[in-house]
Amino acid sequence: MIKGKSPKKVAITPTINFYPLPIVLITCTDIDYKLNIITISSLGIANEDPPLITIALHKERHSNKIVKKTMEFVVNIPNESLLEHVDFFGMVSGERIDKFEASSLTPTMGDHVIAPLIEECPCNLECRVKSVLSLYSHNLFIAEILAMHIDIQVLKNNSSKKIKMDALKPLIRMFDEYWSIKKKIAPIGFTLRKT
Ligand SMILES: Cc1cc2nc3c(=O)[nH]c(=O)nc-3n(C[C@H](O)[C@H](O)[C@H](O)COP(=O)(O)O)c2cc1C
Repeated sequence: MIKGKSPKKVAITPTINFYPLPIVLITCTDIDYKLNIITISSLGIANEDPPLITIALHKERHSNKIVKKTMEFVVNIPNESLLEHVDFFGMVSGERIDKFEASSLTPTMGDHVIAPLIEECPCNLECRVKSVLSLYSHNLFIAEILAMHIDIQVLKNNSSKKIKMDALKPLIRMFDEYWSIKKKIAPIGFTLRKT
């Protein structure tokens, strides 16, 4: 039976600043092969087979205009050592500045898309957009992951596809702060395994 309203809780203004959110770098290339990078935390998972993800780009972003035209991008997973680049790419627009040149990070070629992979990021996902949902301020891009490239140093062993989180050292967003992941507390499904 549903109880009355909680005396401990107050209603606050709804926000999309949930926590924790992943932080990734999206790379894209316009039709003149000018490269761009944008920091985002709106990465979501949408479907298992085929593997589909979503990203939400504000309609004013330079990257939004490129991805809408080319319908492809790469998701690059930065580690803690790339924090300064991550913050910079989230503060300046590619409309005014060549962010690859300014950062001296290395763009490398993928197998399926023209958009570059960032060599210094331990994991890169090549993605092709399947559908674009025009919302109010943002476009929601639903994209298929065509290929996943991963640094062998972050794999548990060369043959397994399991990732060592302590080697990947991903960044996460908690409200308006960058955080790192510190500790595993249990594997998923542990309650069933106990019985
Ligand atoms: C941690 C962080 C997360 C962000 N997440 C998003 C996002 O999900 N979508 C978005 O459109 N902008 C997001 N931004 C803002 C863009 O990164 C920023 O406006 C950037 O300068 C746009 O670059 P561009 O104009 O070259 O595309 C985020 C910024 C930061 C620092």
